[in-house]
Amino acid sequence: MKYQKNIEKEFINRGYCIQKVENIKFLKKIESEVYKSLKKNVKFKHKNIQEFFNNFHKYIDKNNLNFLRLNLIENNLSKKKFKNYYYQICKKTLEIIVGNELVMQKGINFSIQLPYDNSSLLTMHADTWSGDSAYEAVIWLPLVNCYKSKSMYILPANKYKIFENIFHKQKNKSSDNIFKKIKKHVKWINIKFGEFLIFNQTLPHGNIINKENETRISMNCRFKSVFSPYGSKGIGDFFEPIELKPITKVAINYELPIIKK
Ligand SMILES: [Fe+2]
Repeated sequence: MKYQKNIEKEFINRGYCIQKVENIKFLKKIESEVYKSLKKNVKFKHKNIQEFFNNFHKYIDKNNLNFLRLNLIENNLSKKKFKNYYYQICKKTLEIIVGNELVMQKGINFSIQLPYDNSSLLTMHADTWSGDSAYEAVIWLPLVNCYKSKSMYILPANKYKIFENIFHKQKNKSSDNIFKKIKKHVKWINIKFGEFLIFNQTLPHGNIINKENETRISMNCRFKSVFSPYGSKGIGDFFEPIELKPITKVAINYELPIIKK
């Protein structure tokens, strides 16, 4: 109970929690599938998977990156089995923070951030600014240790008032301009392989050019309570049920008998 209260408090006050992966077996399956898919087209002698991921930039052609990413999404990430691995690593935390009847984003996002590559940057944003519901939480899963610019940043919830004040005063409301002003207040997520991050995507977050000499490989996926309000992303097209209670399954198919006149 104390454990639950601490997570709740941390999520509300800070806007994010870093947790140990709840099922190592499934994390290893995720790591192994991603590894098998990425190493297909790469000739590279390496000691272990972590070394391969961290040094990925040394052995791939940047122009092939998108092909590799799409190939992985189509052949692995979109499969039911893979989505279940992802859910199982964070299920208990989701139950505390989001609910026990859930929808999951149909397509898990996959990200490769090579050192000094500016082709896939996410400037400061909140997902709600582009139509996501505030009821969605993001599970961010690193497949390597992430720190400093190899990671992502987020403005903690207890600093959100600072953002609001700057946002209202600032004439040029471009993301870059506002980021410059809140930069000293954001937190860089220091997270290890074996942990995951759950965060409130209404808080400004993003990344910058990865200036560390290692590649970042990470995934992210949104979860929300089935019956909480939806934004522009609906059930069916973007989300699919992952956990429903028996009464909900029965009720969904129930039809009130109608007396014919
Ligand atoms: Fe985002």
